[in-house]
Amino acid sequence: MERRPLLAGNWTMHTTIAEAEALAVAIAQTAIPADRDVMLAPPFTALAAVGKVLAGSPVLLGAQNVCWEPKGAFTGEISPPMLRDAGCTLVIVGHSERRHIFAETDAMINQRVAGAIRHELVPLLCIGETLAEREAGLTFQVLERQLREGLKDIVLSGAGQLVVAYEPVWAIGTGRTATVDQAQEAHRFVRGVLLTMYEKNIATQIRILYGGSVNPDNVDALMAQDDVDGALVGGAALKAESFCRIINFK
Ligand code: 13P
Repeated sequence: MERRPLLAGNWTMHTTIAEAEALAVAIAQTAIPADRDVMLAPPFTALAAVGKVLAGSPVLLGAQNVCWEPKGAFTGEISPPMLRDAGCTLVIVGHSERRHIFAETDAMINQRVAGAIRHELVPLLCIGETLAEREAGLTFQVLERQLREGLKDIVLSGAGQLVVAYEPVWAIGTGRTATVDQAQEAHRFVRGVLLTMYEKNIATQIRILYGGSVNPDNVDALMAQDDVDGALVGGAALKAESFCRIINFK
């Protein structure tokens, strides 16, 4: 069975509510090929408004992080039921900015993954090595640790419950995209680790997205790689024109 491509836009800490609505309207109006999924992840403040724009459209709503508890004294956090209430079906977890700027650990990220799945949100678990780790030859070691610890005790009944996003930290927001060979090599490695953790029919069907300076000029070549099942797009997702071109990769 073919894996269905997923093109995901992470708006990071950008857009007012009005800007988010306008961007969502522009994207929802574009013709999306029926063979692929599209997700938008606006900031928390714009989720409800974008959720209303996307209601009735095939475009999926995602959030940029999630707490593991359904409610309680967790100042500054947002719970899975709150995200469901806003219309989210997916959530980014363990983004490199959460790991490196806000010191989120693999253990914390594992709790977030578990909390999302408990509440029927699909986590997009982000993993990726820093430049120093790549140059030290540690890429596979880092990816394997982030996968095994991030997915510790996570039982899956189907491949649709999880998405993995490989985002080399050195390629995020730098304009320095991984080469197609570097992306495919990392994705194949990730697939191999997943095969040791889950049944074959699940591990072979989990989507692995590439993220890091994806743009209209490099998306076609990246998507042509065997184990690249989609893209997690930052900067180029903030303009309807470039994101729509990415959605319509060939
Ligand atoms: P850029 O596409 O801006 O490099 O960002 C990638 C990213 O981190 C998406 O989550």
